[in-house]
Amino acid sequence: MLSDNAEQSPKLWGGRFSRPTDALVDELNASIGFDQRFARHDIAGSIAHSRMLARQQIISDADQTEIERGLRQVWDEIQAGTHEFRLSDEDIHLSVEGRLREVIGEPAGRLHTARSRNDQVATDFRMWTREALVMLAAGVIDTTDALLEIGDRYQDAIMPGYTHLQRAQPVLLRHHMLAYGEMLLRDLDRLRETFRRTNVSPLGAGALAGVTYPVDRNFTAELLGFDGICDNSLDAVSDRDFVIDTLAACSQISMHLSRLAEELVIWSTPEFGFIELDDAFATGSSIMPQKKNPDVAELIRGKTGRVYGHLIAMLTVNKGLPLTYNKDLQEDKEGVFDTVDTLGMILRVLPPMLKSTTFKPEIMERAAGGGFALATDIADYLVTQGMPFRDAHEVVGAVVGYCDREGKDFPDLTPEEWQQFSPVLAEGRPPLTPRDAVQARNVAGGTGDTVVESARSEFDGKLGKMREWVSRSTDKIGTLDDLLGAG
Ligand code: ARG
Repeated sequence: MLSDNAEQSPKLWGGRFSRPTDALVDELNASIGFDQRFARHDIAGSIAHSRMLARQQIISDADQTEIERGLRQVWDEIQAGTHEFRLSDEDIHLSVEGRLREVIGEPAGRLHTARSRNDQVATDFRMWTREALVMLAAGVIDTTDALLEIGDRYQDAIMPGYTHLQRAQPVLLRHHMLAYGEMLLRDLDRLRETFRRTNVSPLGAGALAGVTYPVDRNFTAELLGFDGICDNSLDAVSDRDFVIDTLAACSQISMHLSRLAEELVIWSTPEFGFIELDDAFATGSSIMPQKKNPDVAELIRGKTGRVYGHLIAMLTVNKGLPLTYNKDLQEDKEGVFDTVDTLGMILRVLPPMLKSTTFKPEIMERAAGGGFALATDIADYLVTQGMPFRDAHEVVGAVVGYCDREGKDFPDLTPEEWQQFSPVLAEGRPPLTPRDAVQARNVAGGTGDTVVESARSEFDGKLGKMREWVSRSTDKIGTLDDLLGAG
């Protein structure tokens, strides 16, 4: 992919040097191998910058026309795959500018007026990141939709709710799905907030101190779709908080998906038997013919580790940096690229996997009724009969202990056996089904079907706001001219 011909392309910054850089330095120093992903953003940024320079009469209109024509040609060449990415060009900025010089000659040398690679790379990266944030948000919405679809499809399904992975109290499967919905909604909020902080323009900050030309930073910012400009030039070139915010948001999304993946792994075991994964989303064993493994869920869980790793790496890279730009900051890209690729992949595979999963409501409901998951409801019943809750807890605890020793469950007990623990229980007992337990919890935020039904429709409203933001922003992603929307 990369060619290496230093002879062909002397350094654009080579003026003060009398010897070429060592080949090993070129190799270590170059970011062109990965920052090619900024090509479209870099070229759009340069077009915007050249238009501003002409408008402010810093360069002539004729030069600007040539520069823009040349830049568009370079973009066409990159898209056609004919542009040569050379190691000796160091990075995408010099690669594009170097080619521009070959294409249009002398006017190319005026493009880098009132600009530095420091504000340039920060501008490119912010434009790239805001697109990534929107794409990730779209994937999070798809995943949320898949969870909602499961909840709606198995509207009445009841499962055991767990604490400590011990059966605790029955809940609606729909309630459980909506719990993940809430997590993902917070994730969407974090992505949008990160977008807001990312979408300010560093362009015009120059190397670090601002520039000596009468630039119009708001003009380029607006042209490139930024909501404003970075207010401090030193901060503009050295701030990578937007990268850390992105990695933190991605880490939290991964963590949520990993928890879900863990549940899918558990639920798909014969021991639980709550779900059956579709054949298209499971894998086999090379030795054990009977195996149907939840590899996809395990990979979702496993890849979370690598996403966290990138967050920690980026925090560490930044922690010792004096203001302003330091070359350490070139390390800011690969981790984010890998994170966005990894999470992007997960967010593509998870929705169809969820939608194709078969749930087993009878098995889930049976499990919800066993393991003494109705113990709290019996205690609550005793409370309705006037017993203080602590005493009721003690009584039902004793019933559970008795059942445990006798190898029985609540429904197996005779009225005489109940009688031993409390006269109240001899006279009457609460209905002992998981459905009754669920219905008894029609309280705000609870698992009762009426409140879950209204939580479900309120959820649509909350998600709707995010949908709107994402579709508004996705419209502006794709072509070079999409990045120059305001022009
Ligand atoms: N490739 C560099 C990076 O990714 C671009 C900025 C270079 N600036 C500099 N002063 N050497 O950070």
